[in-house]
Amino acid sequence: MKYHPEIFVPILIILSLFSQWEQQQVLAEPQVPCFFIFGDSIVDNGNNNFRQTTSRADFLPYGIDFPGGPTGRFSNGRNIADILAELLGFEKHIPRYANATNEDFVGGVNYGSGGAGILDETGTTLGDVISFNEQLSNHKGTVRRLAELLGGRLAARRHLRKCIYYVGLGNNDYLLNYFPKFYSSSAPYNPQNFTSLLIAQYSNQLRKLYRYGARKVAMFGTGVLGCVPLQITKYGGTDSSGCVGTINEVSSLFNQKLKRVISDLNNRLVDATFIYTNDTVTSYGNITNLTDPCCNVLTSDGACIAGTVPCNNREEHFFWDAVHPSEAATMITGKVAYISMSPLYSTTDLIQTW
Ligand SMILES: *[C@@H]1O[C@H](CO)[C@@H](O)[C@H](O)[C@H]1NC(C)=O
Ligand SMILES: *[C@@H]1O[C@H](CO)[C@@H](O)[C@H](O)[C@H]1NC(C)=O
Ligand SMILES: *[C@@H]1O[C@H](CO)[C@@H](O)[C@H](O)[C@H]1NC(C)=O
Ligand SMILES: *[C@@H]1O[C@H](CO)[C@@H](O)[C@H](O)[C@H]1NC(C)=O
Ligand SMILES: *[C@@H]1O[C@H](CO)[C@@H](O)[C@H](O)[C@H]1NC(C)=O
Repeated sequence: MKYHPEIFVPILIILSLFSQWEQQQVLAEPQVPCFFIFGDSIVDNGNNNFRQTTSRADFLPYGIDFPGGPTGRFSNGRNIADILAELLGFEKHIPRYANATNEDFVGGVNYGSGGAGILDETGTTLGDVISFNEQLSNHKGTVRRLAELLGGRLAARRHLRKCIYYVGLGNNDYLLNYFPKFYSSSAPYNPQNFTSLLIAQYSNQLRKLYRYGARKVAMFGTGVLGCVPLQITKYGGTDSSGCVGTINEVSSLFNQKLKRVISDLNNRLVDATFIYTNDTVTSYGNITNLTDPCCNVLTSDGACIAGTVPCNNREEHFFWDAVHPSEAATMITGKVAYISMSPLYSTTDLIQTW
């Protein structure tokens, strides 16, 4: 075959650009410059360690599979915020708000707090947890600080709109508030109007987050709350899958209403992309035990008993304690959620943000 240098040279250039691009993908920049996290024990990475609360996980066997041991994460290892940060290409996990430095604020911080809810009183039976309203008010301080660090409000806004925001609340408004009926606020409600109350407040809170500059928001609905081992122990597994049917109906009602709020916010708020993340898993891989916690748990709150030895086959358990998923389960749901978040990190967004 005759050698055609004029064709070969451009191909070489393209090939070398491509391999440079590949190397960059491997080497470094995360897909977005910053990642902020709002939520409950599903994402808390130690904010509660410094609060007067029994909602804590800063002791073994929590963290048994985490480098360096317990941190306050309600898991044997990493939580979903960690998994998502890794998948987004961040070099380190998003640091907790409680001990964040100026540099941390630029890349995003984690405000999550075990026991927290949409309503301010949710979780307060466990002590001084950080409600979503307080997390938002902490974020307001972060926005102010970023304006100082980045050279003005406009620069801060330009930065904040590129960030991804994880928001997942609501679990505890049911598990620690509505179902146990601790507070007078939930007493006069039925599942429909309690859920409407939550959703109305949540919608306002999400608008506030938007006013603080958020444009790319990944929303996480409640888990399948009636299948949480602690709930089955408390109320009895009544439906065909051995879960608490009434609780599952209510959490699914919340998720349906949340989807409607999300589409409403996307229609009304200019430039906003709120995503209802998909965490429907079709295969659990090596997880064969979908019902029993791995650690020895307290019957009162389902937490691991401090200092006890957990199961060895942790990669086979969906539940770590009687409330929270194991790292193995989180790796599976985290990957599915990450894929469903792809509209928040596609490269075409780079053009829009300028
Ligand atoms: C982390 O922050 C808390 C309060 O927010 C403080 O009490 C604690 O000493 C800090 N720890 C470190 C290692 O800075
Ligand atoms: C919720 O709905 C129930 C049934 O319709 C009603 O009795 C109750 O007063 C409502 N509660 C509130 C706070 O609106
Ligand atoms: C959610 O992800 C699963 C894969 O785990 C997929 O089968 C399903 O179609 C997705 N659902 C939606 C609504 O995207
Ligand atoms: C399942 O376990 C095998 C053997 O330990 C491992 O090689 C594989 O990666 C695991 N699969 C998943 C999906 O975690
Ligand atoms: C799940 O784990 C528990 C506790 O380790 C054990 O008693 C139970 O037999 C396991 N169930 C299955 C289906 O593996």
